[in-house]
Amino acid sequence: MRISNIEVTHTSGIHSRADPGYDRTSELKAFDETKAGVKGLVDGGVTKIPGIFVDQQLILDKRSAGSDSKFSVPIIDLEDINKDSSVRAEIIDKVRDACEEWGFFQVVNHGIPLSVLDEMINGVRRFHEQDTETKKEFYTRDLSRKVVYLSNVDLWESQAANWRDSLFLFMAPHWPTPEELPEVCRDIGIDFSKRVMKLGLALLELISEALGLNPDHLKSMGCAEGLLLVGHYYPPCPEPELTLGTCSHTDPNFLTVLLQDQIGGLQVLHENQWVDVSPTPGALVVNIGGLLQLMSNDKFKSVNHRVLAKYNGPRISVASFLRTQPQLGIFPESSRVYGPIKELLSEDNPPIYRDITARDFLTYIYSKGIDEVSSLAHFKL
Ligand code: OGA
Ligand code: NI
Repeated sequence: MRISNIEVTHTSGIHSRADPGYDRTSELKAFDETKAGVKGLVDGGVTKIPGIFVDQQLILDKRSAGSDSKFSVPIIDLEDINKDSSVRAEIIDKVRDACEEWGFFQVVNHGIPLSVLDEMINGVRRFHEQDTETKKEFYTRDLSRKVVYLSNVDLWESQAANWRDSLFLFMAPHWPTPEELPEVCRDIGIDFSKRVMKLGLALLELISEALGLNPDHLKSMGCAEGLLLVGHYYPPCPEPELTLGTCSHTDPNFLTVLLQDQIGGLQVLHENQWVDVSPTPGALVVNIGGLLQLMSNDKFKSVNHRVLAKYNGPRISVASFLRTQPQLGIFPESSRVYGPIKELLSEDNPPIYRDITARDFLTYIYSKGIDEVSSLAHFKL
């Protein structure tokens, strides 16, 4: 389906929001109403990106970026972790260094077979590439549904839309029945979720120990009660210098385990440079979410990352967000408060943040759109 005001407004090039005649609101609405996402625009043959996607901040970003960086994200091998206590101690040291310096690391030999990872990517691909009419039935902004397909969860709040469509599967703790999941990724969605939950719990143990706490500390605080899978689909972009696949942001949860395909484009901000997170076969990318930074009283960092639109897409990734118990949907109902962990505090290390609920945090982030600016600052004492 062609949407006339998108077609008309975008044939003449870049539109800033200040341009006369550029009505961002009606463009957003028209785009959302197609229910076909960015993929729908690409299938329709766009050669210029609609103005709603033009990202002025990206155009102005002069930080160096790319593969010439002298840095690379640490890779941690989990082989033999449960067999040998000295191996485990070494791994914990590496996790501590990575969480302090990068907020990111990749894990290999994590126990999830390559065939499962590949099938999960394929399942997300099948979802986004299926018949548009079937896919549209899942298109909604009602995040209390267990299955949500949409483009840009923060479409209405953000400064610029991203070149990306997403499938949200709200798994733990209120697991959907198999019939509720899209048929094309049903079996793999369930299998992958169980495995990634197990890995996530193992990672939370390592991170607890890396903080000097009991291995079950973070788990007992509910950091892995909820699991949300987001299957992103980044179609090829005709003007990749003007927009991003995912704008610079930090994750608002405790811990993220990210599966990416071999295309590339993910970058993490390290020492004010954008460093590529190179696709490594069989590896999973792990990063610290904002709530864990708050709990660690800034010892561990939740670091900005983004996805470029410059690659021969489509690019597919699956983000597994470990989060607190949500009643339904994205906003946690749990009244549990999170603040700097008492065991970590001392006279030399006084609390930086006040106690907040996960709902406070997400409500604040979504009120302003997901963006580069740290949301944690808002909760400082
Ligand atoms: C995210 C994210 C990166 C990617 O979903 O929070 O950072 O590679 N995704 O899709
Ligand atoms: Ni992220």
